[in-house]
Amino acid sequence: MVKICCIGAGYVGGPTMAVIALKCPHIEVVVVDISVPRIAAWNSDQLPIYEPGLEDVVKQCRGKNLFFSTDVEKHIADADIIFVSVNTPTKTRGLGAGKAADLTYWESAARMIADVSKSNKIVVEKSTVPVKTAEAIEKILTHNSKGIEYQILSNPEFLAEGTAIDDLFKPDRVLIGGRETPEGQKAIQALKAVYANWVPEDRIICTNLWSAELSKLAANAFLAQRISSVNAMSALCEATGADVAEVSHAVGKDSRIGSKFLNSSVGFGGSCFQKDILNLVYICECNGLPEVATYWKQVIKINDYQKNRFVNRVVSSMFNTVSGKKIAVLGFAFKKDTGDTRETPAIDVCKGLLGDKARVSIYDPQVTEDQIQRDLSMNKFDWDHPIHLQPMSPTTVKQVSVVWDAYEATKDAHGICILTEWDEFKNLDYQRIYDNMQKPAFVFDGRNIVNPEKLREIGFIVYSIGKPLDAWLRDMPAVA
Ligand code: NAD
Ligand code: UGA
Repeated sequence: MVKICCIGAGYVGGPTMAVIALKCPHIEVVVVDISVPRIAAWNSDQLPIYEPGLEDVVKQCRGKNLFFSTDVEKHIADADIIFVSVNTPTKTRGLGAGKAADLTYWESAARMIADVSKSNKIVVEKSTVPVKTAEAIEKILTHNSKGIEYQILSNPEFLAEGTAIDDLFKPDRVLIGGRETPEGQKAIQALKAVYANWVPEDRIICTNLWSAELSKLAANAFLAQRISSVNAMSALCEATGADVAEVSHAVGKDSRIGSKFLNSSVGFGGSCFQKDILNLVYICECNGLPEVATYWKQVIKINDYQKNRFVNRVVSSMFNTVSGKKIAVLGFAFKKDTGDTRETPAIDVCKGLLGDKARVSIYDPQVTEDQIQRDLSMNKFDWDHPIHLQPMSPTTVKQVSVVWDAYEATKDAHGICILTEWDEFKNLDYQRIYDNMQKPAFVFDGRNIVNPEKLREIGFIVYSIGKPLDAWLRDMPAVA
């Protein structure tokens, strides 16, 4: 029986391995992690991450051919194929701080593999890593190989959170990069055979190592660039009376452009877009390509501009101050159908409002108070380190309350900011909400999910990103 071990039981390692186990009953899959609580959660009824369909997949295979364990050494030693899916955060100090990928966790996983292996291994990069990481890993593994042969493959993951299980069941493509030697090609075929259990062969792309590593960074940069492009247009729409939804629709109808990923928003979030673009920028700089670096940096700059612009709209509409005012924040996760808050735009928006001394009342159906307090008090980039390395008891931000109901959050509020596009926010009883708010009552829709005209009929003053402005807002400055 082929044995797979995956190091890192996170958003990628957990769901990916669960799907491999489901689709390949003849393969034993063990997911290992240094985090004891995370592994305990994977072995319990309360999985550590919320992802539609995941629980069903885990329940079907856990205990049969899918296992979660903290015995990292044993399972690495036993495995034929080792996936490494540990975090690759942005460096917070030293050379390349604020841009380069921190490969500490990757390196320690590689050293562990080198220490405990007693048989030949295929080592698969699942984490998103800088181009040429495979070369560094190879050096660690082969430096003291004791006659063991290692083949390194790059097999980046393209799943998106909230749709991870669907994405894994029906991927647009699976990408496998390897050395162009006979041994490298054999390793590619071995991994291809795993995916071929459910992925059509023409969707499995095989390349050299560096193309696979770079394609992952490029794909995320292209996706984020689309959002920054449409968000840049949203500012111009507000200035001219155009409607960004109509512009996106018209532009996306061109089959060369395509309609997906053109929704204007308060800004993109998530654990990877910013991190991977910063990483790309750093690689360009290191390779003497400052013009290319500047080009991609702009995608992040527009994203920051969009979040600032939103906060400024809120403050300037409300008589240029939110000091002491209650602002309800609906949605804190970085997108709907996930409890993940990594780099969510809600953090920057809430910090902006708190900076102007607002009282903020937050409701998100999937995010806990502890997580929100942690996010609002943590230093930039600290979030992407294993939980046991993060501050244990974050300082509580006193002007923030977290409630479990949208009606409670909006009661007596002066304004509402919709920051995540949860479906339930589309169908709230906005008349009831309006009746219980201070007047004038404001709605700032950062996801364009409410019908501004209907809300205006109720009496709200409404701001929707990139839509023709409410008369109230027309003469107010958009950007400070
Ligand atoms: P995560 O933080 O959820 O999980 C990483 C896990 O690795 C943690 O549980 C941590 O405890 C564990 N870990 C760290 N060092 C370890 C070690 N030496 N031994 C054992 N376990 C160790 O991260 P994630 O979101 O799953 O992302 C993992 C990688 O995949 C990143 O490189 C990321 O860029 C990439 N990626 C993420 C997504 C996504 O949607 N989250 C999608 C595609 C790619
Ligand atoms: C993204 C990519 O879509 C995945 O392919 C990739 O594997 C993953 O990053 C990764 O490398 O981590 P994810 O961050 O989970 O996946 O979610 P997305 O659906 O891409 O959304 C990212 C952010 O962009 C969210 O905040 C979302 O609300 C925002 N977004 C998305 C928009 O503002 N407008 C859009 O049209 C689409």
